[in-house]
Amino acid sequence: MEVTALFQILGILIATVVLLIAAILIWLHLERKKYDHVPGPPMESWLGNISGMIKMREEDKYFSEYILQNCQKYGGIFRMHFLHTTLIAVADPDAVKELLITGHYPKPKIYHKTFYSVAGQSYLKNMVPEINTCTDIFMSRLTDVSDGKSKIRMSTEFNHITLDVLCKIGFGMEINSVSQPDNPFTNAIIKTFEGASYFQTNPMEIWKYAREVRKVVQFLRNFGKKTIHEREEAVKRGDYIPDDILTLIMKYKEDDPDVDFEDLLDEFVTFFAAGQETTSQLLSFMMFTLGKNPESFKKLQAEIDDIIGNKSVISFEDIGKLKYLDMVIKETLRLYPPVPGTSRIITKDLTIGGYKFPAGTNFLISSYALHHNEKYFDNPSEFRPERFSDDAEERVNTYTYLPFVIGPRSCIGKHFAEIEAKIVMTKFMQRFEFKLDKNQSFGVVDAITVKPKDGAMCYLRVRA
Ligand code: HEM
Repeated sequence: MEVTALFQILGILIATVVLLIAAILIWLHLERKKYDHVPGPPMESWLGNISGMIKMREEDKYFSEYILQNCQKYGGIFRMHFLHTTLIAVADPDAVKELLITGHYPKPKIYHKTFYSVAGQSYLKNMVPEINTCTDIFMSRLTDVSDGKSKIRMSTEFNHITLDVLCKIGFGMEINSVSQPDNPFTNAIIKTFEGASYFQTNPMEIWKYAREVRKVVQFLRNFGKKTIHEREEAVKRGDYIPDDILTLIMKYKEDDPDVDFEDLLDEFVTFFAAGQETTSQLLSFMMFTLGKNPESFKKLQAEIDDIIGNKSVISFEDIGKLKYLDMVIKETLRLYPPVPGTSRIITKDLTIGGYKFPAGTNFLISSYALHHNEKYFDNPSEFRPERFSDDAEERVNTYTYLPFVIGPRSCIGKHFAEIEAKIVMTKFMQRFEFKLDKNQSFGVVDAITVKPKDGAMCYLRVRA
């Protein structure tokens, strides 16, 4: 009798599990059916397209390349299923315009409105002397290590200078990461990014880093707390307060009673995530593009020699005259966009590119797939800064070139990053010749931002 009851319970359990699995599969099928009319890679199993992506990773390619490859097969709008999530990849200028420019899908954050008023022309102009000062310390550091024979991991070096600049100009903090690379703030920032990258590339092993990352994020939040409190005290004392990012963050609270102190700390950490690594990756990738293209390197050096010469303080006006440097930066960002895409969710049904999409659809706009598409760029894998010259025959289309994204939710630090990169590169080119280590991987890793896999290893030599 007892054995029969046991079998009955077991039978019920098995039937429940089977029913549950059947319900999940039916639900998955119905969810995916909503996108049957959209082309996309075939699913290898009920997991969707996950195995295709894993295969790409095994071939040492990254997610943006997976999108580019499929975009070449299925067109500028295609679907991918990952378990229960469907992503619509977008690499089509009309769809970009609809999703990014119309402003129907705004972020609920308020930085845009306020940042533009803070980071106007005068803010940008005023930050130039500070960037010069930080960069001079950086140049001394590079001079000390540049014997022409030692390999230098330029990504690490650029991480330090971009951190010093953002801390000083954005938050009035002296971190001295260049001269004291081992300080706890720098270590915390580096650990946070390493941890976040690790989570992205090894999602099944989150537990490995989680405790350590939680600890450093807490350290950063405490640091943010201290910095905000010190600024509050300075305001009370009537000290001079710069119109910097910290002022902007603190204004959130005044403007919106729903913003609490924890929100301010979130913003504090967000600005580091958005502003430091991205600029550092741009500079690292310039080592790739200039190192692999000696003609461009020479042309840039000649421009800087002609216009800037030995001048030790680069002014805002000087930066505006360096046309070729501007083109080199733009072309580097085309080939290696540090942020390779953005996403948007639609809140009502929408027809794009002839396909109807239900509310709630996730779109992934791939800047990388647009930048590398021969439909929009002639010989897209070629480094050709002249594409961006004023008299170029091939005009670059606003909707196919998106390193900072466009529209109401685009990067608010674009000019900040450009000015910083131009000053750092000008001073670098004034002083150094460099060679890339040929034995390094020139591949990239896609983790939060896209970065050189081996860190842009170079040999530096002070110019004769
Ligand atoms: C080369 C350097 C940089 C690149 C390529 C870059 C690129 C981008 C991109 C593509 C976005 C949009 C992300 C999205 O839609 O999800 C973004 C957003 C953002 N960026 Fe940048 N960025 C750079 C430098 C900076 C700097 C220096 C700062 C700050 C000083 C900054 C602050 C921000 C912020 C706060 C956002 C979020 C805007 C929002 O959510 O409304 N960025 N950036």
